[in-house]
Amino acid sequence: MINLHEQARQILRDNDKGGYTLPTHGLYPYQWNWDSAFAAWGFTTFDPDRGWTELETLMLGQWEDGMIPHIIFHQPDPGYFPGPDVWQGRGPIPSSGISQPPVAASFMAKMLTMHPAGEARARAIWPKLKEWHRWFMDWRLDQGAVCVTHPWEAGRDNAPDWDVNMAAINADDVGEYTRRDTSHVDPAMRPTKYDYDRYIKLVQIGVSVNWDQEKLLAINPFRVADPTMTFTLLRANRDLLAMGRRFGEDVSDIEDWIKTLEGGAETLWNDAIGGYDSRNAHTGRFNGILSNASALCWYAGINDARALPAIEAMLEAATYGLASYDPAADGFEPVRYWRGPSWPIMNYLVGSGMAEQGIDAAADRIRADTARLMQENGFAEYYNPHTGAPAGGGTFTWTAAVWLGWAGDQPEKRQGAA
Ligand code: GLC
Repeated sequence: MINLHEQARQILRDNDKGGYTLPTHGLYPYQWNWDSAFAAWGFTTFDPDRGWTELETLMLGQWEDGMIPHIIFHQPDPGYFPGPDVWQGRGPIPSSGISQPPVAASFMAKMLTMHPAGEARARAIWPKLKEWHRWFMDWRLDQGAVCVTHPWEAGRDNAPDWDVNMAAINADDVGEYTRRDTSHVDPAMRPTKYDYDRYIKLVQIGVSVNWDQEKLLAINPFRVADPTMTFTLLRANRDLLAMGRRFGEDVSDIEDWIKTLEGGAETLWNDAIGGYDSRNAHTGRFNGILSNASALCWYAGINDARALPAIEAMLEAATYGLASYDPAADGFEPVRYWRGPSWPIMNYLVGSGMAEQGIDAAADRIRADTARLMQENGFAEYYNPHTGAPAGGGTFTWTAAVWLGWAGDQPEKRQGAA
């Protein structure tokens, strides 16, 4: 029998397109931004050279204004919608026009620890990451918290956070289009048509101003301050700062960014839910959603005792890790994408952050649950948090990376077999 480490490594190799890695064949046939950062880390556990190449290829998609897109369309693929013709990105390689949670700097810091010989490559990537982070600081802040301008930008595509904000979008004139995702995966596990119309409408709005951020600020009906973005950027800036000091770079602006984001994170605290929440930047209203993103505060270096009880209750209400949406809330759906399922990548960000901050019991539980998901049901995109049943796409790159870098990396394994 092939062991799980070997299976995970094989998934990364099979999804490798030469310089970049697909999230999975079929459903996601291009390079996705935060998936790619996980892939780089996963590769570094057995092929560090390939890990560094992954990050370098991601940087190739960077726009002149600093943005690193959420999808880079290296080669055309008719099996995906919306493709490059719809997005009309203006980067050096065809791409989408939005970004994704900036976890790349944090994975680069890990890779440097795992493979110090990669320092020259890290030094070359560092300024590009800094320009990307600056882009967020220039264009995306609301009271110091980081906003998303499209639900896909948060990486939590159909999370309930966006519902109220999506309702404000008129998509009557979106036109005809053919979805591709529902031909790869059961529609019950995917966003609805109502959501999809609005996703496409927001792309059309971006294209109408050629993705000019200043113009978008004025016309985008969707602008939501988001814990995923705020916490990942805060963490990424801390990692960028530490690496910059080591490389002898000027880091004074990064120190300022960290202060701004710490203040911004505090504005996302919502007493009514006992957690960090998303907020509509147009209305200033909280969305009232307790999600796995609410639990990223520890990962961001904020050890907040206020946040623990609600997250512990979410853990108690599920059997396999942290559900993406509070299982006790109305509208929780155990297999619909970001409205309930347990996602190994989020479990890793949350669990590793908790471990760093000494929240050991919850951290250990999340890690053990995540390992069980893969031991029992392989490397799926996400899982039912009650039964552990796999859902979404299979043979998933970032799930395999989470096994290699964290969930499967138990002390007993380290001493024993590979
Ligand atoms: C979905 C996820 C997003 C991910 C992408 C590729 O869109 O919501 O977070 O990056 O798939 O795996």
